[in-house]
Amino acid sequence: MNVLVTGGCGFIGSNFIHYFNKKYPHHKVLNVDKLTYAGNLENLKGLERRRYYKFVKADICNARVMKDVFEKTRPDTVINFAAESHVDRSVVSAAPFLKTNFLGVSVLLNLSLQYKVGRFLQISTDEVYGSILRGRFTEESMINPSSPYAASKTAADALVISYYKTHGLPVLITRSSNNYGPYQFPEKLIPLTIINALGDKKIPIYGDGMNIRDWLYVEDNCAAIDLVLQHGRIGEIYNIAGENELTNMYVIKRILRYLRKDKSLMTCVADRPGHDRRYALSINKMKRQLGWYPKTSFEVGIKKTIDWYSKHKRWLKSTQTGEYRHFYKKYYTQLGLTQI
Ligand SMILES: NC(=O)c1ccc[n+]([C@@H]2O[C@H](COP(=O)([O-])OP(=O)(O)OC[C@H]3O[C@@H](n4cnc5c(N)ncnc54)[C@H](O)[C@@H]3O)[C@@H](O)[C@H]2O)c1
Repeated sequence: MNVLVTGGCGFIGSNFIHYFNKKYPHHKVLNVDKLTYAGNLENLKGLERRRYYKFVKADICNARVMKDVFEKTRPDTVINFAAESHVDRSVVSAAPFLKTNFLGVSVLLNLSLQYKVGRFLQISTDEVYGSILRGRFTEESMINPSSPYAASKTAADALVISYYKTHGLPVLITRSSNNYGPYQFPEKLIPLTIINALGDKKIPIYGDGMNIRDWLYVEDNCAAIDLVLQHGRIGEIYNIAGENELTNMYVIKRILRYLRKDKSLMTCVADRPGHDRRYALSINKMKRQLGWYPKTSFEVGIKKTIDWYSKHKRWLKSTQTGEYRHFYKKYYTQLGLTQI
């Protein structure tokens, strides 16, 4: 295989490249990443010298540069992880989300068609379905996004499907629940909580902390993505989740208990506008069609994750860029918190 991975310097993309490289050491992987604040070359340290791995710094929205990439490398498979991915940032400004998550995808789709790519896998999210208080969304459920982030991902999914229906491009979509594990940028709930707890800093909790997410250990997602890529039915969507439905409050308390930190670090702040109460996916299709199920319980996954962040201080430092500090200083001030 000759795989073009976009956004491979981010959280899930880098975990996937490690997973893929280990499983198929002789398949070629070209990682194209713009290296936004969330992209970190440190995530792939050790792979740079591998013969079958290459990195190119590029923006998927730049059609000219991306055409050059396709022309030179002729990928047979495209997996698109590249995205603006943080809901809070989409609340502050939607424009970068629309650009990368929608226009960037259109560039990749056009080129994939032109260069006769054999499989185009779009990495989507459970957030496209919106909130559900009882039951679970299946792949046939109505889409009903709440945030500008979720809306941009929904638009991308629709475009991907349209290239299948209109042009016959062999596409696949995965929609996963919240991932956690190594290399996640410390703006998301789990790494943020671990890092703040380790530094005895306040941990912000939106609203009453009772919002429910279904936590998926990132390595389980990588295995699922690989299965969909190799054996998924063209033109279809696959839900992926961890079967670990937990409130944010529970997750934070569990991390504090493991690190033996005091609950007084928890600080309730005003709720995020449009904050979905509960996400829940049915993963029966993955189980039935591809024999996949999540292997990592939250108890096992969270301990591995906390231990990883506790041991990777150098990596943590590499994420604390000026841009990161600037955004969070402003954002935390808005929330009524003073430090980050
Ligand atoms: N993290 C989750 O829990 C989760 C859950 C469901 C779905 N997803 C989806 O999975 C994908 C990966 O998420 P993540 O958490 O790894 O995100 P991330 O923010 O950690 O990484 C995104 C990567 O994309 C790169 N990127 C951004 N804009 C780009 C552009 N214009 N051109 C090239 N590269 C660009 C960034 O530099 C970064 O390396 C996203 O599409 C996201 O919507 C994430």
